Formats: sequence, C-alpha cells, structure tokens
Amino acid sequence: MISPASAIPDGEAVELAPGVHWVGAFDPSLRRFDLILSTANGTSYNAYAVRGSEGVVVVDTVKSEFADVFFARLETICDYSEIRAIVLNHLEPDHSGALPELLRRAPQAEVLLSTRAQSMLKAVTKADGVEYSYRPVATGDTLSLGDRTLRFISTPFLHWPDTQCTYLEELSVLFSGDVFGCHFCDQRLFNDRVGDFRYAFEYYYRHIMRPFRSHVIEALDLLEPLELALIAPAHGPVLRDGPRDYVDRYRTLAQPTLQAETCAGEKTLLIFYLSAYGNTERMAQAVYAGAEGVEGCRVSLFDLEGSEPSLFVDLIEEADGFVIGSPTINGDAVKPAWDLLSSLTLVKLRGKLGGAFGSYGWSGEAVQMLEDRLRGLKLVVPRHGPKVKLIPTEEELDECRAFGRALAEHLTGVANQARVVDFADLIRP
Ligand code: FEO
Repeated sequence: MISPASAIPDGEAVELAPGVHWVGAFDPSLRRFDLILSTANGTSYNAYAVRGSEGVVVVDTVKSEFADVFFARLETICDYSEIRAIVLNHLEPDHSGALPELLRRAPQAEVLLSTRAQSMLKAVTKADGVEYSYRPVATGDTLSLGDRTLRFISTPFLHWPDTQCTYLEELSVLFSGDVFGCHFCDQRLFNDRVGDFRYAFEYYYRHIMRPFRSHVIEALDLLEPLELALIAPAHGPVLRDGPRDYVDRYRTLAQPTLQAETCAGEKTLLIFYLSAYGNTERMAQAVYAGAEGVEGCRVSLFDLEGSEPSLFVDLIEEADGFVIGSPTINGDAVKPAWDLLSSLTLVKLRGKLGGAFGSYGWSGEAVQMLEDRLRGLKLVVPRHGPKVKLIPTEEELDECRAFGRALAEHLTGVANQARVVDFADLIRP
C-alpha cells in the first residue's frame, strides 16, 4: 500500500494536545473485522498516552500483531518506568493485544478498567502468566496525574459489557473507546485531513452500536454535557474538527425513526406473510382482522413477496411484536421468511412478541420451525399459531382471527389482566 506524503512514519508518536499523544497502529490490509464487518480500506487501532506532572498513563493498546509499532511510538515519548497506569477502555483483543507485553515492560503500572472488565482482564492475560495490579473504576472516579486528571465514564455494551470512556478534564479530550470510532484506515489521522469517512462512521454505528441503542442513549446522556475539544476513539480518525457533530450524529442515529407515526402508548404489531396459492394470505388477513379490532394496537400487514427484508428492519426494531405467515414447502418455511429473520441479527429483539402461522399441503412444519427460531431470537411466543391444510375454512379463519386478537390483547395487556370471577359463575344451575 502506498502511503500518502503526509502519513505518519512508523516509530513516531503524534501529539494531539499538550502531553497527549497518539501511539496506535494502522492496519490498511484488513478486509474483515470480527469476521462480520467489511473494512474496505482497513482500520486503525488507536492507543494514546497522557503525560502529567506526576507520570504517564497509557490509554488502550493495539492488536498483538501491531505491538512492535505501538511500543516504538510509545518509547519516543516516555520511559516504561514513567508509566503509572494503563487505562483499558475496552478489552477486545484489538485493543488489549499488546497488554501482556506492556505489563512486562512497565510492571509498576496499575491497570484501571471497568468493574465488568475484571474477568476479561484475567482471560486476556492468563496465557502469559504476567503479574499486575488492577483497580476497577466507575463513572465519576478519577485518576490524578498532578496537573492532569482522568475521569472515567462507564458506557457498558458500547461495544462489549466492559466498555468505558475516559475524559481528560484539563484539556477536554475524550478517549472514547469504540464509541465514535469507525473502521477507516487513513494515515493522515485527523478527521479534517483524511478522506471522506462518513459511510464508515455510519456503517460502524449500524453494526456495532445499533443493537445496544438504549445503552447508546444512556451513554450520550453522560457524554453530551462534557466540553469537547477532541474525541480520540479506538478506531478511525481522531475527531478534532467539530467533535460535537459526531456526538450529535449518534443522538440522531439512536432516535427511534417511527415513533412519531404511532400514538403515545399505542402498541404496534406487524404481520408478514408469503403465500403461494392465496391460502396463507387469507390466513394473514384473518389474523390482521382479529388483531386490528383490539383497541390500542396499531396493526400493519405486509406481503414479503412485494419487498426486501432489509426495508422492514427499522419497523421490526421499533414494533412491539411481529408475526410471520409462511406456507410449508419441502418441509420448511420459505426462504423469504428465513431471510427476514436473518436480517435481524443487529436488532435487539428480546422480549418482543412473536408468532407464526401458515397453510400447508401435507406436512406443515413451517409454523413450528418459525416459532422455534423466534424463541431462539429471544422473542416471547405466547401462543402456538394456526396451521391449516390447504384452503382455510370459515372455522379455521375464525381461529386465525382469534389468534390475531389474542396477540394484540397480549400486547395491550388485556390478556394479562386478572380476570374477575363472580362466585355466582361457579355455581352450577
Ligand atoms: Fe474495537 Fe470492540 O473492539
């Protein structure tokens, strides 16, 4: 790979603010991260060092293959004996890979990390047998370096349970870990000098942060009040030009997009179906009719044959529940039904209501298979859905209506209300 003229040579640290240096590594050849993310032009593993009047703190390390360049940069700005502490914002191996060797070189350094990271720290260091001391920190805890103060902000699940951010108070620098990062390798380092990385920033958000939207919102509530001169994320460009814009972008991305379309307190139920001969479609319409009659539940009906599963991801994410109708063909639900479910891997589904139904010719496995998958995705499947051999009768359509009504009532809480029994009802005439 040809580096731009303004690339940072290996073995040089980059000063971001007085006494604050980038000591990370570029990985331009990476094309897939964590096996699932495309990285069109690689990534970077950003690590930082902060010097105060009473010592040096290293914030995060790099992937183990890049340890040499990390140590070479670090050695240009401090002796290992000066390192008082190592702050680990996140222990995924792309940030903790060089940690065991750093601990060997700076055995006096105390490791500071979130409470939830403690077990991970033991896991990433156990193979090396290296000795160290560590201290869990939480939101509001600080570390003084004399004239510099690091404040810790717990941001769990962004991107693992262990994650935290670290704020350098005197210089308003936020070391944000994976938050506000992206897989975009550009050796010009700063956001006002690199190429256009908007797609990478949004892609990273969608794939890494989106499943944890409620945690993103909680984190933003803690981060937005901070004065921000610079955001130093664990991947991608250092955000020195308009750092607040990236915080605002997260706030926008984390907002529900469909909330305004429903009335306050209204529950939303989506019904998807596929139908080869119109039988599952008739069932879907009956499920729809049953659910639609329940007050307080907004019901929508979609023929999956007429659309792409990806278009429904946002809807499903914000809906309270969804149902899939599929015929059974060759002992299975049909492919678009599975495509829809497989497109939901980035969506938090736990606790949503789910259901399935469908027509069949001779075996009818689809309903059970879909219900099993919905349960596997952590949805609540309160009722076994109707399956109908070939053409539904009026009685069978009544069953479908009852099924739809029961699901809607489950969502609105009607089905869960305690039933008042009059003793008179218990007396046989
Ligand atoms: Fe960059 Fe979640 O590791």
